[in-house]
Amino acid sequence: MTPPELAQLAVVGRPQPRVDGPLKVTGVARYASDHLLPGLLYAVPVCSTIAQGELERLDTAAAEGMPGVRAVLHRRNLPPLRRASLNLGFGSDSSYFDEHRPPLEDDVIRHFGQYLGLVVADTFEQATAGAQAVKATYRGERPPNVDPRLGPEHLSPPGCGERLDVRPQGAALARLDVESERGDPDAAFAASAVQVDRVYVVPPETHNPMELHATVAAWEGASVTLYESTQGVVNHRNVLAQVLGLPRENVRVITRFLGGGFGSKLWSWPHSALAAAAARQLGRPVKLVLTRRLMFATVGHRPRTAQRIRLGATQDGRLTSLHQDWVNHTSILDDYKEDCGEVTPQLYGAPNLRVTSALARRNVGTPCPMRGPGAVPGVYATESAMDELACALGMDPVQLRILNEPPFDLSRKVPFSSRHLVECLTAGAVRFGWSRRDAAIGSMRRDGLALGWGVACCAWAAERFGCDARLDLRDDGTACVAVATQDIGTGTYTVLAQLAAESLGLPLGKVEVLLGDTVLPPGPISGGSMTTASVVPAVLEAARRVVASLLVTVTRAHGSPFYGRRSSELACAAGKVHARTDDPASGIAFDELLRACRVGAVTSSGSASGTSSTEENVSRRSYGAHFVEVTWEAALARLRVSRVVSVIDAGRIINPLAARSQVQGAVVMGIGMALLEETLYDPVTGAPINSNLAEYMVPTNADVPPIEVMFLDHPDPHVDELGARGVGEIGLAGVAPAIASAVHHATGVRVRELPIRLEHLLGS
Ligand code: MOS
Repeated sequence: MTPPELAQLAVVGRPQPRVDGPLKVTGVARYASDHLLPGLLYAVPVCSTIAQGELERLDTAAAEGMPGVRAVLHRRNLPPLRRASLNLGFGSDSSYFDEHRPPLEDDVIRHFGQYLGLVVADTFEQATAGAQAVKATYRGERPPNVDPRLGPEHLSPPGCGERLDVRPQGAALARLDVESERGDPDAAFAASAVQVDRVYVVPPETHNPMELHATVAAWEGASVTLYESTQGVVNHRNVLAQVLGLPRENVRVITRFLGGGFGSKLWSWPHSALAAAAARQLGRPVKLVLTRRLMFATVGHRPRTAQRIRLGATQDGRLTSLHQDWVNHTSILDDYKEDCGEVTPQLYGAPNLRVTSALARRNVGTPCPMRGPGAVPGVYATESAMDELACALGMDPVQLRILNEPPFDLSRKVPFSSRHLVECLTAGAVRFGWSRRDAAIGSMRRDGLALGWGVACCAWAAERFGCDARLDLRDDGTACVAVATQDIGTGTYTVLAQLAAESLGLPLGKVEVLLGDTVLPPGPISGGSMTTASVVPAVLEAARRVVASLLVTVTRAHGSPFYGRRSSELACAAGKVHARTDDPASGIAFDELLRACRVGAVTSSGSASGTSSTEENVSRRSYGAHFVEVTWEAALARLRVSRVVSVIDAGRIINPLAARSQVQGAVVMGIGMALLEETLYDPVTGAPINSNLAEYMVPTNADVPPIEVMFLDHPDPHVDELGARGVGEIGLAGVAPAIASAVHHATGVRVRELPIRLEHLLGS
């Protein structure tokens, strides 16, 4: 679009309710497991009940004789699955598998819940009973290593705040990497007038999307269709083609709707390959739905992290040094790095800085990205340390952050594309009433409750994936926009409808959106909060081309009112074509023209490549600030989050309603992270033991206060033509440290190990 058109946006920027809302609330929207195909069989995995050892034998005889059981599949009777090439290209060639080892590849047991086989039966209940009847015997069983101390010699027990020496010692740490470095942080820290040196721990957290992971696999000859619950149909198609040994053309993946993923459905997991292999073996469609319990063991989690943060500052609050040394646990075979330093080098202007990472192997399932991977635990630690520094300095925590605003991206020595973090802080402070804050611990009260006010900043990368898109302009007055990305519950259908309507000048209700199917033009994973920015340039290009194609068509078709004219003499406005010399109001509607031309539809494509954070001379990020109030009732030991104001700088907001919902949902997750969530591994069996929604606690409505979300709405000219960045993940970063700081303000207790529990606060 050209600047004058941008100035008159009619659809983009409006709070548009979800176009797919009616389909969802009436039950018409079909999710993966809703696909009930003729002859469907049900698969239930047989899983390891130990976490370290070897499988000696699977006794399948009893299960095989049970009613309805069609097959018990395992390593000895299922042809081997291949490995995926692990191309993390994010584009149409992306083929990333969280677990590098395909299922059933060997007999070594590395975590509780590891797949040993699969029972396939006529009903889910029969398959479940069959799986329970399969008896596994093990040899060489050893106690699992699920030690929450991330390297016994490197870390003291979590939360005690002792010094952390992150050096690789023994087998516990897989490797140590320097992630970012500038200046001489050791000397600067040693010489600094004021120091903070603390360890912060975030426990393992497990994604709990409402929709369970599910696959329905159906073969037709040598081709397979997978109805899948995935955040990336193209990646999943590429992975499954490799794992099953098929050309890509023989695999189709469909995810029309997704009931949340939060990163656990970003890449492929082995159950899907098992379902496809079982369906191939049995010549019948197979459905495999993971139970909530299995989802705690086999489809990823945010790993435990321990981070030592050292801040050095001058007496007047200028950061002189910043160290961040983190360890995260990972599984035995996979090197999953929780990139806690993702935003650290850019957030503040410390001239001297070093960020290091290390991995510690544990007998757990492979971790994976969880909303705001890296940045969310990273910002929890660095922003908590900033609050501790503000306390040590006797300085207001908002002022401390404003004082340390960097003039440019010091780590890459490039300008910021569009950064308004200070405005987030100042606007949020006004809205929240921050000037009324009394910094003295426990000094603020309301209705007999102690009040705590805390603040924290957040940032998240703002890049773009490569994306193709197709637009059809049809003779019934509708348009159709198609791209093989997906709507994971965030509003992508609606955003695409808005983009197509805006760029064609059609009413929103005339736009059909097709997503979530690998037969469509390749689109990106729904991850990294990058979908909106990725689709904008592709859709706008497709719109320009489809209009150009229409203008040529109407000059060449007999019967067209513009027959014989030159397309350059024509223009479009509000879904109509007019001669440039005439009043736009005289235009003729697209569909009327197409009917006059006897052309059913004009189709064009658009394509845009992705951005790369390291290749361009600009630093693109979104920013924000969260202001939180907690109340503490010491007599009842009752802690509540009572008020949240979040100010987000995410470029132009295409749909303020969907964007607000994203940030509100993220803040709810932040309340869970701060106060409730923790996956507990049984030290004896290695099992995630609170593997259900009764014992793995997430916030309920009663835990959620009013959440006010403000967007600054400054378009970012370096992201896409509309200046739109993403809003999904940034809302979670910064919430937990703001709550932890508010709890400290109310109670005087600084909790450095999440979740904050009442036990931490008793006696305060
Ligand atoms: Mo998100 S963790 O990129 O799904």
